[in-house]
Amino acid sequence: MIRVLFVCLGNICRSPTAEGIFRQLVEDQNLSERIEADSAGTHAYHVGEPPDARAQAAAARRGVDLSVLRGRLATRQDIEEFDYILAMDRGNLDALLSITPSGMDHKVKLLMEFAPNARAQDVPDPYYGGTAGFDQVIDMLEEAAQGLLEELRRRL
Ligand code: 4NP
Repeated sequence: MIRVLFVCLGNICRSPTAEGIFRQLVEDQNLSERIEADSAGTHAYHVGEPPDARAQAAAARRGVDLSVLRGRLATRQDIEEFDYILAMDRGNLDALLSITPSGMDHKVKLLMEFAPNARAQDVPDPYYGGTAGFDQVIDMLEEAAQGLLEELRRRL
């Protein structure tokens, strides 16, 4: 089993959307027995909450249901247990690296490294913006999720 953890700040916008989009791709390719996905946040503001209504709506427009997901905090134990810990931006990458046990830095990366044609390293935080920001985020996440899955298929 390959285990992937998507990480953003609040775990209510970007990372649960990434989890939902990626899990849908994994299911479509019948790889659910081989690849597992989860998400978490680097700050505790929204622990226990469902994804932001705007993120749920944007995902629903692509046929992905995020309603059962709940916010949680990323932990040191997550970094030990997951194979890929993928940050949405450099701020969250730094926050993760600050709790990463020694010798495990290689597991912690920027998600957008997996998007072959990406112009940005960071998935922008859509929280304080409008609906268009959520659709832009989901476009980026779809591209990165596809690149990530191609990489994982090579490892399986
Ligand atoms: P996320 O978005 O990190 O993509 O879940 C945010 C959610 C909440 C806050 C910031 C970003 N906040 O400041 O509460």
